[in-house]
Amino acid sequence: MKYKELIAEMTLEEKASLMSGKDFWQTQDIERLGINSIFLADGPHGIRKQAVAADKLGLNAGRPATCYPTAATVANSWNTELGEKVGEYLGEEAIAQKVNVLLGPGVNMKRNPLCGRNFEYFSEDPYLAGKMAASYIRGIQSYGVAACVKHFAANNQEERRMSIDTIVDERTLREIYLTAFEIAVKEGKTKSIMSSYNRLNGTYTNENQHLMNEILRGEWGYKGVVITDWGGTNDRLAGLLAGNELEMPTTGGETDQEIVEAIKSGRINEEVLDECVDRLLDLIFTTEKPFRRPHVEFDVERHHRVSQKVAEESIVLLKNEGNILPLKFGKKVAVIGDFAKDARYQGAGSSIVNPTILDHTMDCFEESGIVSIGFEPGFERYGKKNQKKIDEACELAKKADVILLYLGLDEATEAEGLDRHSMKIPENQIELLDALHEVNQNIIVILSCGSAVEMPWISKVRGLLHGYLGGQAGARAILRVMSGDVNPSGKLAETYPLRYEDSPSFHHFPGNEASVEYREGLFIGYRYYDTADVNVLFPFGYGLSYTTFEYSDLQINKNSVSFRVTNTGDTAGMEIVQLYIGCHSKDIFRPKKELKGFEKIFINAGESKMVTIPFDEKTFRYFNVQTNQWEIEAAEYSIMIGSSSADIRLLGTLYKEGTGAPIPYEKEKLPTYYTGKTNKISEEEFETLLGRKVPVSTWDRSKPLGYNDIIAQCQYAKGGLARIGYYLIVFAHWYLRKVGRRDAANLIMMSIYHLPFRGIARMTGGVVNMPMVDGILMIANGHFFKGFSHFLRERRKLLKSRNPKSEVVG
Ligand code: BGC
Repeated sequence: MKYKELIAEMTLEEKASLMSGKDFWQTQDIERLGINSIFLADGPHGIRKQAVAADKLGLNAGRPATCYPTAATVANSWNTELGEKVGEYLGEEAIAQKVNVLLGPGVNMKRNPLCGRNFEYFSEDPYLAGKMAASYIRGIQSYGVAACVKHFAANNQEERRMSIDTIVDERTLREIYLTAFEIAVKEGKTKSIMSSYNRLNGTYTNENQHLMNEILRGEWGYKGVVITDWGGTNDRLAGLLAGNELEMPTTGGETDQEIVEAIKSGRINEEVLDECVDRLLDLIFTTEKPFRRPHVEFDVERHHRVSQKVAEESIVLLKNEGNILPLKFGKKVAVIGDFAKDARYQGAGSSIVNPTILDHTMDCFEESGIVSIGFEPGFERYGKKNQKKIDEACELAKKADVILLYLGLDEATEAEGLDRHSMKIPENQIELLDALHEVNQNIIVILSCGSAVEMPWISKVRGLLHGYLGGQAGARAILRVMSGDVNPSGKLAETYPLRYEDSPSFHHFPGNEASVEYREGLFIGYRYYDTADVNVLFPFGYGLSYTTFEYSDLQINKNSVSFRVTNTGDTAGMEIVQLYIGCHSKDIFRPKKELKGFEKIFINAGESKMVTIPFDEKTFRYFNVQTNQWEIEAAEYSIMIGSSSADIRLLGTLYKEGTGAPIPYEKEKLPTYYTGKTNKISEEEFETLLGRKVPVSTWDRSKPLGYNDIIAQCQYAKGGLARIGYYLIVFAHWYLRKVGRRDAANLIMMSIYHLPFRGIARMTGGVVNMPMVDGILMIANGHFFKGFSHFLRERRKLLKSRNPKSEVVG
């Protein structure tokens, strides 16, 4: 232990006190020993620091900070140097705002296009997500601040996120859902990691010994701190045993006391606590160092410009019929669409940044050199059809050479706490597009949203530029691509299926009441579409440029692959080259191809460059469930160099010696997995893969409600009051949506509807404790008077314990 002597000076109570927050954002301090509080703030694409006293629930707006493009956007750049730059700028702002731990990046996989937080995550591919995350972390931590990689692990939906049990087989867990975290830990050297809210194969992740001790600390050698997601603690002692150092936010000391009692009674060895304290002290002492230097404000303008550069490199050109882009000089453009007036630039929830500056398209036109003849909103952002607006837009469109049509999803649709209901963009936007197409066919759509959408309307547009969520300078960045000042170089970090129904997890998302079964196994994203031969709208890794590239001269060596890329157009540009590997042996099922390397290169027109991509320890590995470790299968492998996952330009083979492990599966028992067509897997076959029975996936309505049941379950509570409460919540949600307050309606779903009963104690900063929750549960379970008096008695006790001299009334 690094701080053995200091820990020896601490009382048991002092040590335990460090194990949970002091308030919503800070850790506990111990003045007499010179241990200060440190500040944790969201993340991930900007600093959201609230003034400490702002509010108890952490919901108020933060102080102004640069809103960089979100992770889903920056992932499209496939540029780890750029990721590191974003990290550095975040780190600098964290220092300026006195933030010690930045709660990001988020590296959860995009298992399904509807996950409400996809805009905050990088990719459907663990290698790309991991590499991008590691680059962010390096950048952030170069300033002495700690990154906090989240949400560990298998948290791939928002629906019932605090109670859902993710059922996933070990190989899929390792190869798909943990690899990005592994890279963030081993290569990024993250100093902290946030456990997720959900259960993983029956146990809350924060208490999951297999995840936390065997894999994270054991196999990956992680030495940093594990922080709970806010209010995510279930059993504090089980968490401590799994090595969870910091519970957030404060519980008013309630869970610290549990730790003290468990140690006094011998249930937990004090050394377990000491180890946790030691690691937490290291985080505190190392991240407070940068603050010993004089305070420096960050340069708002410079950071804004950097955020623009990042957006420019992340924009994806998806369609460019007849080279309609870049816009030819002197063309008269009509700007249509509400998003051109009010930029859509980030998602909703805990990641929301209060931007220092905000560019809107209509304010940036002059400097872009593009000649606009006017603007019409064309549709109502929140969904209603408005014929007058359509007519006005058509009138303007008739006078223009080209229409720039700004479409997308609104702020309340992509939000933490709830998933989207469909992959469609609002119908009123499509109606507008149809009407415009009648009067002028030169339409370029500019899309603003942070996740994949369906585009049944794509044949009606000649150009399509996807800006994703470009942060506070995203609008200007898009104009620079359209004017030709910037040659687009982004490529999709996720697949765009033709229809939502095509996605591999369609039948198992968001799962049933109690659990979600990842029956599709390894086959998420392109791993599925490609292997199962399902047509897609845009494949993973796809994106156009204003120039063209040719690939040649493939050389495959033992440890790397080299090839030449030539810019055959007349504009300088950047190309993202992708290395995919496929195994020829059919003994162990695998995706047809998997990304194992990439690089982004800049090439001048007419020039060429040699590129070498080294193989690494992940290139040929697979996780063998029989030996319980990574193995290599002796086989011939395809070495594919692609411009996208569907556009392989160079192909060769390499024989690789194996590690000699036994084949872990009985092929005939997993026939569908061997075909890769895993969108409809029977329960029996999934159980064979899992190696056990799947748990009951529905709520047990016969049992009384308990700590881990969620407020939504009050609909069948024995207590009438709880049932009324449930319908009031449902009504409030419906009413708020009806009156256009979708943000407030979302908040109800996120912070009340899906909250487990224990969350009432975990999220109220010590105002309500667990014995009081017992009273609430008694009421919910039909014992009103008993529960009510229990609640009051416990409340009195709590207040008295805090202020023994006062008389408590109530
Ligand atoms: C989110 C985390 C976030 C935390 C603090 C949670 O609800 O899941 O991503 O960092 O709140 O705001």
